[in-house]
Amino acid sequence: MRDLTILGLESSCDDTAAAVLRGREILSSVVMGQAELHAAFGGVVPEIAARAHAEKLDLAVEQALEQAGIPLEEIDAVAVTAGPGLIGGVLSGVMTAKGIAAGLGKPLVGVNHLAGHALTPRLTDGLSYPYLMLLVSGGHCQFLVVRGPQDFSRLGGTIDDAPGEAFDKTARLLGLPQPGGPSVEAEAKAGDAARFAFPRPLLDRPGCDMSFSGLKTALLRMRDRLAETQGGLRAQDRADLCAGFQAAVRDVLAEKTRRALKTYLAEAPAEPAFAIAGGVAANGEIRGALQALCAEAGVRFTAPPLRLCTDNAAMIAYAGGELLAAGEASDMSLAARPRWPL
Ligand code: KG4
Ligand code: ZN
Repeated sequence: MRDLTILGLESSCDDTAAAVLRGREILSSVVMGQAELHAAFGGVVPEIAARAHAEKLDLAVEQALEQAGIPLEEIDAVAVTAGPGLIGGVLSGVMTAKGIAAGLGKPLVGVNHLAGHALTPRLTDGLSYPYLMLLVSGGHCQFLVVRGPQDFSRLGGTIDDAPGEAFDKTARLLGLPQPGGPSVEAEAKAGDAARFAFPRPLLDRPGCDMSFSGLKTALLRMRDRLAETQGGLRAQDRADLCAGFQAAVRDVLAEKTRRALKTYLAEAPAEPAFAIAGGVAANGEIRGALQALCAEAGVRFTAPPLRLCTDNAAMIAYAGGELLAAGEASDMSLAARPRWPL
């Protein structure tokens, strides 16, 4: 059978995105960010996001088709994020997708945004089910065993901050530029990770749950003590604090990954594979540690490129294709679901 050509739409948070996929080939992937619209408010403002999505979706679709060199009539199906996310944006996407699908007389498929992220390693690396995934970004931190387009088991996750958030807060506390991950990693290169005793939270507790907010509190205490005793931070102090913090995050993620791998491998997957996805996967120390664990366990290690780990519509089109192949098309009653756990 010929691979379907699928138009994907994504508008659940602050990116308006459209993409055209044929099988696993990404013919185009357009992402229009809204960061500058929300910058003055210190967070995403739902009303502003909804209006921007409504204004930009048509344009994103137009550009995606143009870049793919595909006329609208050649689209075989339309996939759209139907949740979870901000209701206004999700509604705009769902309405737009319904309009296009109805106009073309082609299938419509509603996709869970988180499933889009979770299936990305199949799009980028062709992993077979089941695989183990660590989603680790500024907003997420969880282990998933992915068994099918609608079949996920969560092995554990953070009970407070996501690691990326902890990196960002650490950078802020030390006066380093945002996003914090890359600046903390760069500082840490010249640092001594052993100088400051950072905790390794929740390692004493069984399972794969994690906690990162205590690291930030520990860092704050160390910083203030240095300020008191020596009247401020020296460059070396900053580097040592960054190195100590990063090593603590690395150790927690590594130990929890070791446990998650053990649980996953107990079901004897035919082609064992691990994927790390999200902004924090860019960290060399963390990535290196997890890669080494996988090599030791005989598990294939993958890390999808960052542009496909952040919000995009290619992952939605891909997940839509898998759902259609499984006979899971939606109809015109498809509703936006602001809350929709995996
Ligand atoms: O996946 P992502 O781009 O977006 C969302 O969280 O939605 O992740 C961004 C996060 C930020 O918190 C950023 O500081 C972190 O990923 N990050 C890193 C690195 N590069 C980005 N964290 C640690 N080390 C890095 N090199
Ligand atoms: Zn997302």
